[in-house]
Amino acid sequence: MEYRKFGTTDFEVSPMGLGCMRMSGPNGGVDDRESIATLHMAFDLGINFLDTSASYGSGHNHELIAKALKGRRERVIVHTKSGSPRTPDQSGTRGGGSPEYLTRICEESLRRLEIETLDVFCMSRVDPNVPIEESVGAMARLVEQGKTRYISLSEAGAGSIQRANKVHPIVSLQMEYSLWSRDAESGNIQACRDHGMGFMAYGPLGRGFLAGVYRDLGQIPEDDERRRSPRFQEGNFEYNLELLAGIEALAKEKSATLAQLALAWLMAQGTDIIPIPGAKSRSHLEENVKAIDLELTEEDLSRLNVIMPPGAAAGTRMAEAQMTRVNV
Ligand SMILES: NC(=O)c1ccc[n+]([C@@H]2O[C@H](COP(=O)([O-])OP(=O)(O)OC[C@H]3O[C@@H](n4cnc5c(N)ncnc54)[C@H](OP(=O)(O)O)[C@@H]3O)[C@@H](O)[C@H]2O)c1
Repeated sequence: MEYRKFGTTDFEVSPMGLGCMRMSGPNGGVDDRESIATLHMAFDLGINFLDTSASYGSGHNHELIAKALKGRRERVIVHTKSGSPRTPDQSGTRGGGSPEYLTRICEESLRRLEIETLDVFCMSRVDPNVPIEESVGAMARLVEQGKTRYISLSEAGAGSIQRANKVHPIVSLQMEYSLWSRDAESGNIQACRDHGMGFMAYGPLGRGFLAGVYRDLGQIPEDDERRRSPRFQEGNFEYNLELLAGIEALAKEKSATLAQLALAWLMAQGTDIIPIPGAKSRSHLEENVKAIDLELTEEDLSRLNVIMPPGAAAGTRMAEAQMTRVNV
């Protein structure tokens, strides 16, 4: 496997990471034994880059990773996010940029992950009520105190990236990016490149849609978060399935699965783009890792761009309330 330098860090990371969110919910069962087996298989296959958050499973995800890291810590780079506080009615999140919040979560993360220094500590969302200089200033103090080696941002707009870098080097941006979510191409990726930052593409499989998991809305349980996503609403969903059929034809020609094609497309966008597919089973992980060896020609890439150009998907990438918190 060819490792690459991650942004301005001295870390050499695999071309693809592993997103751990779904190992702690939010939808579907939680199976710690299979999750740990999946994490160990990832390390054995050469995947050395994990994404997690203090909020995933309210700390469960960190405790799970702590178990999986026993005796293997040196081989793995952990990127962990701060999460955001829930709104009083628990229906969503808000804030999360105050120095007190970020400091408390960093310390809690160290304790739960059972490590002395985080590799990368990331602010999950830019807080519109706290100047970014203040949030990043607090994170810079955590670096000075040896609590994290590097700091990063998630879903930050180009302006915030620029302001943040004036306070302290930001090593990467994490943002939703996939064949059907191309917002990052309108300035965020360029802002990262201007600052030598890495780019972590989350939701690279379109929450499972681009892997061909969902063919019928009835397959999605009532309490699944996808039920609230505009792209999974009647009308939009069927339209998006038609787009997917074009991608599926190319996948067949390449003897690849849909998931592999979606991931290979992301990796073909630049060596600074690291997809972090969420997989909580060894079978999904094994399939996804094979995408590293799937080569796409210029012709394949052009075809994909015709089948699914930016903005092609019906429906925004998140529900309205969540859209106000991204690309800030
Ligand atoms: N910064 C942020 O705000 C933010 C937001 C969301 C997510 N994230 C990060 O990004 C990671 C990935 O995002 P995500 O999980 O929402 O979306 P995703 O990676 O696009 O999709 C994950 C879904 O695809 C399924 N899947 C994975 N590999 C598959 C395969 N080979 N064949 C069929 N289905 C497959 C998974 O099933 P199984 O779970 O059953 O394997 C899961 O349901 C998360 O784990 C998290 O670390 C960050």
